[in-house]
Amino acid sequence: MGTPALPGRVLLVGGGGREHALAQQIVKSPLCETLYCAPGNAGIAKLAQCVAIAAEDVDGLVEFAKAERIAFVVVGPEAPLVLGLVDALGAAGIPAFGPDRKASALEGSKGFMKDICAKYGVPTADYARFQDVAAAKAYLHAKGVPIVIKADGLAAGKGVTVAQSLEEAEAAIEAALIDARFGDAGQEIVIEEYLEGEEASFFALVDGEHILPLIAAQDHKAVGEGDKGPNTGGMGAYSPAEIVTDAVVDTVMADILEPTMRGMAAEGCPFQGVLFAGLMIGAGGVKLLEFNIRFGDPECQVLMARLDSDLLAALVATQEGRLDEITFRWRAQAALCVVLAAKGYPGAYEKGTEIRGLDAAEILPGVSVYHAGTRAMEGGRVVANGGRVLGVTALGDTIADAQRRAYGAVDRIDWPDGFCRRDIGWRAIGD
Ligand code: AMP
Ligand code: GLY
Repeated sequence: MGTPALPGRVLLVGGGGREHALAQQIVKSPLCETLYCAPGNAGIAKLAQCVAIAAEDVDGLVEFAKAERIAFVVVGPEAPLVLGLVDALGAAGIPAFGPDRKASALEGSKGFMKDICAKYGVPTADYARFQDVAAAKAYLHAKGVPIVIKADGLAAGKGVTVAQSLEEAEAAIEAALIDARFGDAGQEIVIEEYLEGEEASFFALVDGEHILPLIAAQDHKAVGEGDKGPNTGGMGAYSPAEIVTDAVVDTVMADILEPTMRGMAAEGCPFQGVLFAGLMIGAGGVKLLEFNIRFGDPECQVLMARLDSDLLAALVATQEGRLDEITFRWRAQAALCVVLAAKGYPGAYEKGTEIRGLDAAEILPGVSVYHAGTRAMEGGRVVANGGRVLGVTALGDTIADAQRRAYGAVDRIDWPDGFCRRDIGWRAIGD
């Protein structure tokens, strides 16, 4: 029994808004005969057969892929990548999109990522790594504030403290190294220089040898309007990001992505997958804040809304080292995504509250309602099943037009237990 070939069955791993947006593109590809998604959500279930296997259940996913003769796997979130899902699938002869376990350390260990940047000359904040509290505090006092304290490992977006006072910085050091607030992920920390500027996210497919630059987007991390309140996974996004000019893209390619790809290969862990460069663009030029090894969520939603090419063909080419054969076309239109979250998020929130009006929102031209934390119930009812629940995404001639259309769709959704920011896109649109 040989490895099944494409066109064939494709398995998408994950169940958020990012995966719904990826699913919408993948099912359009002539290479996809049937799409499965593990675990998926109520929106993805309209495009794919959802299977109840958790995204982190590496053994369960490999068993499923073998049993169902899956020809290609697309991994959405970082956790299974860091756990070695792509390695395990590869060992079973199943090709997959995404970096292997070693290369996933670019996101899985902030210290590793900083060391790669330092060794290969990638511009980023000055830093030091610590496991010892006294040494960390001595460094803090030598540097002063503002300063940034980061748990080394994956901490579900909660491992970063931008400290404005020495007390706050000391508390963050103690929380990670003494109180083990982030478990093993915080047994080591990175302390780094505070960078000023405007943030943007840039994405590229990387096959180990070639880079296909995608486009940029801007996220809104804070939960509240005016960028106030605690950080979240992202409350909304838009693309294009005007701050990412052609000159910035050239700099990102030459100074960040190329040296990282070459450096990873030289270190014996070539990177294949999507590289998400979190950028800080300021007076000091373009600097790398962080790498992620996956598409951003909700950035992916606006990227996929603008993509006008065969996504799956490009993901397969990435895995096969043929990215030089791929060109992507993008719609000239802007896209904007508004996240609807359960009241209380990013703190405690309720699950199981009913959402109505989804069809009325989706029917609007140029609008996609991507599901994140949703669950389908009998009778076609949809209930909330997570913190970030929907990503209402619209295309428009300008970002202002896309914003108007997205909020028009949001206003058709009847979900008293949810909320959203009403100012997504404010930087691009102004008052
Ligand atoms: P990260 O998870 O590394 O992206 O950090 C989360 C957020 O913390 C970023 O989106 C930035 O807003 C902020 N941040 C991280 N590193 C720095 C830094 N060196 N200087 C200023 N802000 C930072
Ligand atoms: N939206 C930011 C992220 O996906 O990490």
